[in-house]
Amino acid sequence: RIAATRHHSTGSLLPPTYQKLHNKYTEVRRVLDGQRLTLAEKILYSHLNNVEESLLSNTAGGRDIRGKANLKLNPDRVNMQDASAQMALLQFMSCNLPQTAVPASIHCDHLIVGERGAEDDLLAGIKTNQEVFDFLESAAKRYGIDFWPPGAGIIHQTVLENYALPGLMMLGTDSHSPNAGGLCTVTIGVGGADAVEALVGAPWELKAPKILGVRLSGQLNDWVSPKDVILHLAGLLTVRGGTGYIVEYFGPGVETLSLTGQATICNMGAEIGATTSIFPYTEASARYLHATRRAQAAKDAEVFQNFPGSTKVAPFQFKADEGAQYDELIEINLSELEPHINGPFTPDLSTPLSKFKETVKSENWPEKLSAGLIGSCTNSSYEDMTRVESMLKAAEEAGLKPAADFYITPGSEQIRATLERDGTLETFTEAGGIVLSNACGPCIGQWKRQDGVEKGTPNAILTSYNRNFRGRNDGNPDTMNFLASPEIVTAMAFAGSTTFNPITDSLTTPDGKQFRFPAPQGLEGPETPFVEGKDSLKVLSQPPSANVEIAISPSSERLALLDPFDSFPSSDLTGLRVLVKVTGKCTTDTISAAGPWLKYKGHLPNISANTLNTAVNAETGEVNAAYDLDGSKHTIPELARRWKEAGRPWLIVAEHNYGEGSAREHAALQPRYLGARIIVCKSFARIHETNLKKQGVVPLTFADEKDYDRIGAGDEVDTVGLHEMLHSGGQGEVSLRVKKETGEEFLVPTKHAVSKDHAGFILAGSALNMLAKGV
Ligand code: F3S
Repeated sequence: RIAATRHHSTGSLLPPTYQKLHNKYTEVRRVLDGQRLTLAEKILYSHLNNVEESLLSNTAGGRDIRGKANLKLNPDRVNMQDASAQMALLQFMSCNLPQTAVPASIHCDHLIVGERGAEDDLLAGIKTNQEVFDFLESAAKRYGIDFWPPGAGIIHQTVLENYALPGLMMLGTDSHSPNAGGLCTVTIGVGGADAVEALVGAPWELKAPKILGVRLSGQLNDWVSPKDVILHLAGLLTVRGGTGYIVEYFGPGVETLSLTGQATICNMGAEIGATTSIFPYTEASARYLHATRRAQAAKDAEVFQNFPGSTKVAPFQFKADEGAQYDELIEINLSELEPHINGPFTPDLSTPLSKFKETVKSENWPEKLSAGLIGSCTNSSYEDMTRVESMLKAAEEAGLKPAADFYITPGSEQIRATLERDGTLETFTEAGGIVLSNACGPCIGQWKRQDGVEKGTPNAILTSYNRNFRGRNDGNPDTMNFLASPEIVTAMAFAGSTTFNPITDSLTTPDGKQFRFPAPQGLEGPETPFVEGKDSLKVLSQPPSANVEIAISPSSERLALLDPFDSFPSSDLTGLRVLVKVTGKCTTDTISAAGPWLKYKGHLPNISANTLNTAVNAETGEVNAAYDLDGSKHTIPELARRWKEAGRPWLIVAEHNYGEGSAREHAALQPRYLGARIIVCKSFARIHETNLKKQGVVPLTFADEKDYDRIGAGDEVDTVGLHEMLHSGGQGEVSLRVKKETGEEFLVPTKHAVSKDHAGFILAGSALNMLAKGV
């Protein structure tokens, strides 16, 4: 036991965060008297705004919470990366608040291109994106947000090293935010609009997730790493298998993993669609807190876990209650696991290393490996890097160099500087590796390849990153991108071949001898704590200051202030026109494409020029074509802009699962900005449907799918019952009165999922308008 001391601010033995957690937890236990909870549930429910209301409505008195209850949560903090932070901050600014309601941070990581090496790339990245970085920095200073400058590190690594603490609940504006679940937090990736809700202090809503338990036993063998656990799991569960679930790891195998290994596993939970992933607090967690110079946090966590509650409530242990039930259970024996390689083009196509050679041959995948890339937010821990170092040293002694290009991305300045201090970085560069800046770079398509592989040329690369959709790394849809542990990536980079198996195969050295890699060996963490690194890359942290002017040039092409959307009229909507009827898949990518448009993320008028630009017109079969009432042909965004300028509101007609894909808020913001009031379709992707309501667009589905065939582009539409439904908090039916050019008129009955809160958003014009009114 650790001797406890009283905290100045609370007078309690607990720091304020844990005192708050303790109070809420006591309430949760009172409400759910006698129930056994998983770790994720304990943390999540102890962040409820109103414990009773959330846990007891629609849940059979608290016995059927998962998948049923609407949780209204108060996260402890919000972390934002530079691409998504732009729109989040622009929205936050329109609420006119002096500071954020919860601590927050901005991480400049996504906009730096990996090309020649850390120093050159960083300078070039700063030059190209200066105005965005200036904006983010000035907003950070104005509102008291921590600002991590370009080169300081990748959001998830920086959050793990600095902000993650056991028991916290955080939101991050990036899908791999669950990385921090490795340190026993519930951290959820969200879009900017959700982040803003937390930043203004409004509760953030989540349907209570189900819990998928993964019981780990045994211990990883020599060549197997934590990455292989999640590569294997992705193969078992597929990219949709975790949807609606939190993945919670437990069992004796957990104790054998390093903290950073646990973070890697949680990071890639995003690849199976999980809400988030979490590990219990272990001795490795405490060691990591010490190594990252947070001994006090380790002490607080220990005191909290032994903090005597009321007589009825046992202390909050950072692990599941004995006998807690999981909705699904998977067992993995770490001792039986082998290295896996996943891909190409999807993270759930998983092949064990022992079968990879024959699969490469049978699938006709390229045998030549063009590049090996290690590091990133997923796999740049001290353990990962020192294990690779041991391999490089052995190869160096044998006179071998990598046969393929070999890149290393440190996850943060702290890890980079520590690796430099300990000589690891030198080993990388001596082996011919190129160390990129502490930023996302090739992981998010920001990679200017130097090997002359042209777009359209089939080739294979291997990365220790987390995603491998087509074109993800270099924008080349013909690059086959495989995912593996850093150790396997390194071994194959030395062989220059995708068929090399370092466990069974040898390489020929320059003097003709056979060389087999020894099993990798590394250190879980540095022997002396991490060093912070360059002063210029340290966090800028200061209290809010109203005197700071936010840097947005009125002539900027990349940033534009947001005007509030107009509120709902005082009667039903009349005179809407169908802009276009689309057919087939309409994902958030279809509605708001990424790639080159990423640079306009902070400029709603400019990025709106991509709206639905890959959608297929159901009536003509053309891509991105729409027709005005006079018969003139335009692109979809052009016609939308024409109608916006003419003051003509419009709607879109679509098929199934409209808005599937990511939580991209631009896919809702852009149509709204251009004048959309309604989307009517056969069905919606759930997150996008909510996003539409948050931006004041009414999502309706056909009561009878056949009505999709009756309604067409240019038809005039009035709503019937919408005004009344909104004013009665989501109660009541809504129909569309459709008038054809021929004079034919008919009613289309629809369904909706508008709750009382959603009705409020739509009436106010947007959730933000409502939040701004309330503060
Ligand atoms: Fe995301 Fe890769 Fe950066 S996963 S945070 S883009 S390093």
